[in-house]
Parts: sequence; structure tokens; C-alpha cells
Amino acid sequence: MGTESNFQVRLAARPEGVPTRQNWEMSQTEIAWPSDGEVLVKTAFISIDPAMRGWLRDAKSYLPPVAIGEVMRASGVGTIIASKHPDLKEGDQVVGHVGVQSHALVQGAALRTVSEEVAPLSTFLGALGMPGMTAYFGVTDVGALEIGDTVLVSAAAGAVGSIAGQVARNRGAGRVVGIAGSDEKCRHVVESLGFDAAINYKTESVGKKIEDHCPAGIDVFFDNVGGDILDDALSCLRQGARVVLCGAISQYNNLGNVRGPKNYLSLLVNRARMQGFIVSDYSDQYGSAVGEMAGWLAEGRLRHRETTVQGLETFPETFQRLFSGEKIGKLLIRV
Ligand SMILES: NC(=O)c1ccc[n+]([C@@H]2O[C@H](COP(=O)([O-])OP(=O)(O)OC[C@H]3O[C@@H](n4cnc5c(N)ncnc54)[C@H](OP(=O)(O)O)[C@@H]3O)[C@@H](O)[C@H]2O)c1
Repeated sequence: MGTESNFQVRLAARPEGVPTRQNWEMSQTEIAWPSDGEVLVKTAFISIDPAMRGWLRDAKSYLPPVAIGEVMRASGVGTIIASKHPDLKEGDQVVGHVGVQSHALVQGAALRTVSEEVAPLSTFLGALGMPGMTAYFGVTDVGALEIGDTVLVSAAAGAVGSIAGQVARNRGAGRVVGIAGSDEKCRHVVESLGFDAAINYKTESVGKKIEDHCPAGIDVFFDNVGGDILDDALSCLRQGARVVLCGAISQYNNLGNVRGPKNYLSLLVNRARMQGFIVSDYSDQYGSAVGEMAGWLAEGRLRHRETTVQGLETFPETFQRLFSGEKIGKLLIRV
């Protein structure tokens, strides 16, 4: 390993609101050697995900909070440079929770091997990774998409939303409409990703535009955002609609309580349902979903974009871009 050391980003203090540089501590430590069952991964890309904001909150959730002083939890992809796991060897490329660091000691059993022959490595953190799986199972299973459905997707230019709209279209949706935060993103969603229409929630009246673009109402609302956008969509549901509660990024940095939907009685009158899910519940089915999505990628029926920032030292500002929206598609750090 020569003179290399491990560059790590640790949680220094719990954030209030959007995390800033003061919440993080950067350090260089010696690279540790794997014990039995472990592998040493040299990370290539770190995934920057909204879920990371939830992991900073000292509250009960589907994973324990990151402790003060701990390396920040993050998914990443990289190459094994030392192995004490019987099924993994030096040179294998893997994806998993490696943390925001240049070198990660990880239990081999917690990693999934990936192949650059299928797609470039970074794709396994985006379209063929956790966000892609979230989009796929959110649309097909939680959203119970049916042929001809009208589908509305919020944060439609993001990692999950951009794929969710395309999964819906490829699986037979009649109409797919996106909501995003700039004209550039709206153009991208329609012209590059093939959505039928897009709404700029920062400059247009969302409720009015949903009515224009979904005149018969919404069958599936794939929500990544919550707040006002969820309320506007709830008021345009069709009978029997499914609201997929994927995320609520507009609420993640709230200093007070999370704001609930005002228009929830629309679920009652429309005999609709709203259901949350966590993508890892579907991990035993990732293989077949990746197979179908890799086929779409090869056929040009699934497009994806990445915003890649160079260097782990940029982590504090790169993380903020999730909340400012200064990126298109999947946000990554190249290590
Ligand atoms: N349930 C699960 O298992 C699961 C798994 C993965 C992700 N998720 C959730 O899915 C959602 C999307 O995740 P992602 O990785 O694809 O992130 P992303 O959409 O790539 O990035 C976040 C985007 O959210 C938009 N945004 C930020 N603040 C906003 C606000 N106040 N109001 C409206 N839009 C706002 C921004 O786009 P604009 O420029 O368009 O505003 C930003 O680019 C998140 O809520 C995440 O927590 C859930």
C-alpha cells in the first residue's frame, strides 16, 4: 500500500438544519488490515444520498444514527485490495456501505460484487444501484402500476425520480409527468428522459399545472419531496390512486416537526392509498430488477445522468447540493 493513508470524514456535531462544514471533521489515519471475514476496499465513488440526512438525526429509524466521531455512513463502490473473505479476492469490484473514506474495512458478507462489463462502476450507485431499485420497486410494487396509468413523479430530475418515470413508461404508463426545480431540469426530463411533460415547481402553479397535464387525474404519484407538492398532488388523485411515499426531502432539514399532508381526505373520497417503503425490503429481488434495467440501458430505453464532484474533501459542500438542487441525476464523489 506504499505511503497511502486513509482519508476519512467523521461526524463532529449533529446538524440543525442543512449540515455545514462545522458538522464534519476530516482526518488521515493509517490503513488497517482485514481480519477474518473482512476485506479492504479502495473506494472509487461515494454515493451522496438524502437518506444520509436522516442518519444524522438522533432518533429511532430503520438504521441506528451515525454516532459523533464515527466515519459518516455512505454507500460506495470500489476495488478490493486485500481480502480475508473466502469468496472475495483482490481486484473484485464491490458495492456496499463503505463510509465517506478512501479505504474501508468491511465484512465481505455485506458487499455485492459488480462488473464493469455490465455498466461503468458509478452506475451501480445510481440507475443500477439503490436509487434505481427504489424507482423500480416503488413504481411496480408499491405503486402497483397498471397499463395506461397517469403517473406523476416529484424530484423528477433526481437519482430516483428520473428512473421512476422511465420505469413507469417502459412498463406501460399512459402518461408520465415530472416536477423539478428549474427550467433546465424540466427540459432534461422531457427531452432526454422522455417524460410527457414537466412542471417547474419554483416558477409555476403546481396544482394548476397538474390539472393541465393530468386532465383525468393521477393514478400513481411517486413522491420524493412531501410538503406543498404532496398536497397539490393529493388534490388531483383519480379513484383508486396509489401514492408512493418514497421520500420527503422538503422536510428533512426542518427544525420543528415534519409537516403532514393537509389534503389527506382525498385518499378517503378517492378510495386511494398512500404507502411508504424502504428499498432494502426488496434486496432479494434486486438481481432480476437489475437484469431488466440493464436490458433497458443497453436498448437505450433507460437514460441516466450523473453529477460527479472530485475529492472527499468536498463532502460538506457536495452534500448540501442535495438540498439546494445544484445537480442533475445521481450525485457522486469521485475519490
Ligand atoms: N424509501 C426508500 O427506500 C428511498 C431510497 C432512496 C431514496 N429515497 C428518497 O427519495 C428521494 C429522492 O432521492 P434521490 O437520491 O433521488 O435524491 P435526488 O432527487 O437526486 O436529489 C434531491 C433533489 O430533491 C430536490 N429538492 C431538494 N429540496 C427540495 C425541496 N425543499 N422541495 C422540493 N424539492 C427539493 C432537488 O431537486 P430540484 O432541483 O428539482 O428541487 C434535489 O436535486 C429522497 O426523498 C430520498 O430520501 C427513498
